[in-house]
Amino acid sequence: MKINPVRGTHDLFGEEIRKFNKIVSEVKNVAQKFGFNELVTPIFESSELFEKPLGEQSDVVLKEMYTFNDRNEDKITLRPEYTTPMIRAAISNGLLNILPAKFFGTGQMFRRERPQKGRYRQFNQINFENFGSDDFFADIEIICLANTLLKKLIPDSNITLYINSLGTRKNLSDYKKLLSKFFNDNKKSLSKANIDKINTNPLRILDSKNVEEKEIIKKSPKLIELISKTDLNIYEEIKNCLTELQIPIIEDLHLVRGLDYYCHTVFEFKTNELGSQDTLIGGGRYDGLIKTLGGKDIPGVGWAGGIERIMLLMNKILQKEKDIHIAILDPSHKIHAIKIYDFLIKNNFSIYWNYKYNLKKSLSLANEKKANYIILIGENEKINNNFTIKNLSNGEQVSLEIDNILDYLK
Ligand code: HAM
Repeated sequence: MKINPVRGTHDLFGEEIRKFNKIVSEVKNVAQKFGFNELVTPIFESSELFEKPLGEQSDVVLKEMYTFNDRNEDKITLRPEYTTPMIRAAISNGLLNILPAKFFGTGQMFRRERPQKGRYRQFNQINFENFGSDDFFADIEIICLANTLLKKLIPDSNITLYINSLGTRKNLSDYKKLLSKFFNDNKKSLSKANIDKINTNPLRILDSKNVEEKEIIKKSPKLIELISKTDLNIYEEIKNCLTELQIPIIEDLHLVRGLDYYCHTVFEFKTNELGSQDTLIGGGRYDGLIKTLGGKDIPGVGWAGGIERIMLLMNKILQKEKDIHIAILDPSHKIHAIKIYDFLIKNNFSIYWNYKYNLKKSLSLANEKKANYIILIGENEKINNNFTIKNLSNGEQVSLEIDNILDYLK
């Protein structure tokens, strides 16, 4: 019986898992520098955590959530995103007493989307959230953090930051009404799928890639026209600070994001190297969301990035840790071998012992696995109480006592 992986899922091994681990470790480094603490939440939550906050008419809630009834009829959902679980966890554990509270996490998310390059049904996100500050510096800081991380992981990639302001939640709901009216008046130029969205989710019509629809969209009302002068000034300051930080931006007046909880600043880091799944990181402000989820009335700002999408841009092969194979030429030398094995593990080397007791097989395996060194242990080494080390990249071979081995391997 051959069982294939479920559609939209993938296994990680070899070079891919090295890239994955490199991303997670860099996320932890950057988080520490910017003062964010790790928060790990369960993979499944009560469905109600997602249904309203993400938007009952959003694609994620309408079509993509993995929701099931538990045996006692509790309605459970595999988390499709990390912001609402983080807020839930911060509230459940009383983590919002000292503000601002800054958290990050990495982990698997689940969305039943049509799989393609860069889009999976189980994927991994990096998530950064800052709870409790309406200072626009929090927006700058979290964008700067994202930029720092991307520069570390994929310095050679062509990445652009798109930014927009949605104004207050009231501005956004007024805007939806205006859009519904506009698209109703221009119905004849829209596809059936988009006509269905006119009254439920008119913002999504703005994403259309259809040439004829794009022409209509160009003439549609702009959200920025509804935003107050004070909010527009703050938005200007944000853009000025980003320019000061030399983070190039493109203002995209139609950037509204796919989840319902956003207001004020929204942003996306995009690449032109991945085809249609081109957003590496997306996020923004979500003032009001924490209160909706039963917490204090405090604002929040954050972003999430797709680990698999970043991996697709990490072209450079990552060097393996210094890998050392141990070749014992006869089982009777195991006791001598165990000394060097234990010594190297204690000194943080990664060791591979193949149980072959055959020089030729051991050498060919070490070469195949691209080991850096092989340590040979035979009769001579046992008698002289030393170890023979062969450097597999240049063929050099030396016999050393255990005390001199560290200097040689450095
Ligand atoms: P999102 O835009 O839905 O935002 O997802 C963020 C990122 O996750 C995307 O830009 C993409 O890189 C990655 N991603 C999303 N879906 C998939 C998929 N099916 N396969 C692979 N990667 C994917 C959120 O999730 C918000 N919670 C972001 C946020 C945090 N806003 C504020 N705080």
